[in-house]
Amino acid sequence: MKKIILTGDRPTGCLHLGHYVGSLKRRVELQNSGDYDEIYIMIADAQALTDNMDNPEKIRQNIIEVALDYLACGLDPKKSVMFIQSQIPELCEMSFYYMNLVTVARLKRNPTVKTEIQMRNFEERIPVGFFTYPISQAADITAFQATTVPVGEDQAPMIEQTREIVNRFNHIYGETLVEPNILLPERQVCMRLPGLDGKAKMSKSLGNCIYLSDSAEDVKKKVMSMFTDPNHLRVEDPGNVEGNPVFIYLDAFCNDEHFEKYLPEYKNLDELKAHYTRGGLGDVKVKKFLNNVLEETLKPIRERRIEISKDIPAVYKMLEEGSKIARQKAAQTLSDIKNSMRINYFADSELIRAQAEKFKEKA
Ligand code: TRP
Repeated sequence: MKKIILTGDRPTGCLHLGHYVGSLKRRVELQNSGDYDEIYIMIADAQALTDNMDNPEKIRQNIIEVALDYLACGLDPKKSVMFIQSQIPELCEMSFYYMNLVTVARLKRNPTVKTEIQMRNFEERIPVGFFTYPISQAADITAFQATTVPVGEDQAPMIEQTREIVNRFNHIYGETLVEPNILLPERQVCMRLPGLDGKAKMSKSLGNCIYLSDSAEDVKKKVMSMFTDPNHLRVEDPGNVEGNPVFIYLDAFCNDEHFEKYLPEYKNLDELKAHYTRGGLGDVKVKKFLNNVLEETLKPIRERRIEISKDIPAVYKMLEEGSKIARQKAAQTLSDIKNSMRINYFADSELIRAQAEKFKEKA
């Protein structure tokens, strides 16, 4: 069986460091590993509209930002098909049939949907499209016969829902769809990067992000004003590295070479942490180091992004080509689905013959 990756992002804003450690970096590694036969990266504009129906312009504006972030991080259209969800109408058709395989009670139990309903205060006024987006996500995944879906742990319920739909479908209509596996980030620290303010999650709506497109000055300003241990008031005071976002970011980004290069008085992060915990190490020094470490990742991305953004029409062209390829793949799967469901009437000469026979007998 082919090894196929499908994953994607909602284009509600520029991508940030949380996206980078949680998924983008891994995607590029997977792409370059040569282990996969096909890779599809989807800009999920239709899904983004399920809770931005009154602001389609926001989605429209951010598609290109996400595409630039992809390319800047090293996704390569020769190896990974990048496309826009709404340009693949086959996905809607699949969702329509999958809807018959899922109950309202099951959707209400989906933990991600559940928290999002609470977060947005929807209660009973939840839009049907939003409520059913796990079904549409199952269409996204199965349309490409994805075996592997690299996503953050918050997406686990979506993959679970997809597997259920696949099993139900195959059970009723015969082996047709591929059951996908989730591929979680390798390291715990990459699962969910906290915000600059120390809040649990880096998130656009909380305004606590470092964006891949931020300038060097902005990154520096943001790093220097990061939340740390609120009880670490004077340099001499013992500090806490647990839950301290500065140290969590270092966990996610720094390696021993960074110490050699920027902070040679320490060998590694353990030594730095020990000194901070003991007392006698100031936040400013740690933050300056963190800024240097982050720049090692961010500078090349930023420079590539600027370079690529000099030819925006070419980026749209790349997405258009990708959408064409993606559409062919989805159309093939949809055809398989309709054959399995036996709703391919006009191609079914046996059906037409048998019906003709039946009516001849009646006459
Ligand atoms: N729900 C994902 C997110 O919010 C985006 C997405 C849509 C996706 N369809 C997908 C991810 C299919 C993986 C597979 O980030």
